[in-house]
Amino acid sequence: MPIFYPTAAFLIMVVLCIQPTSLSAVKVKYSRDPVTKTEGLSLSLKCTVEYKTQDCNIETNWWYENSSARFLLFDPNTYLITVNETETDEDRLRNIFLTFNSLKLQDSGSYQCDATCLNSGTQAKGHLVRLTVTADLNKGLKDSTWNSQSKADPAALALSALILLLWCY
Ligand SMILES: *[C@@H]1O[C@H](CO)[C@@H](O)[C@H](O)[C@H]1NC(C)=O
Ligand SMILES: *[C@@H]1O[C@H](CO)[C@@H](O)[C@H](O)[C@H]1NC(C)=O
Repeated sequence: MPIFYPTAAFLIMVVLCIQPTSLSAVKVKYSRDPVTKTEGLSLSLKCTVEYKTQDCNIETNWWYENSSARFLLFDPNTYLITVNETETDEDRLRNIFLTFNSLKLQDSGSYQCDATCLNSGTQAKGHLVRLTVTADLNKGLKDSTWNSQSKADPAALALSALILLLWCY
């Protein structure tokens, strides 16, 4: 019996010592601020993942979430995701940019970036970034009034010139 307790204590210490280092093998960092932007504009969301090269074969992802759905963003026809990396002494920093060339109203929702070390299974998740895409109130105006006016003017001018010409002769 007396032998059992030191063994248990030793095991607990080993577990406590291993846990923090494996948890800190990968970290996800990015801005927490909600983003509000008008439709049609471009936007780039950046996520930075810090990890240790030797114990992490990294996989990183951006996710989309709203009240009715959650899915991985991977379709290259819809989402432009670019990655670059730098290396310091023991750590690597990977930036994952999610770029919208032209925001749509339905891009509104929450975005989250996460990272997994495939060899150890250690995972780190970022928080949700709220994106609100607002309607471009000038859009309708620009498309209808402005275009029809610029087309109508030369036509009206040509017509009055023709009437003038017919009237003279
Ligand atoms: C959530 O996102 C999906 C996919 O973009 C969309 O079809 C659905 O309408 C959205 N739901 C709400 C409540 O915004
Ligand atoms: C990664 O790319 C972004 C945008 O293209 C750039 O601003 C940044 O400096 C790059 N970072 C590294 C570490 O190359």
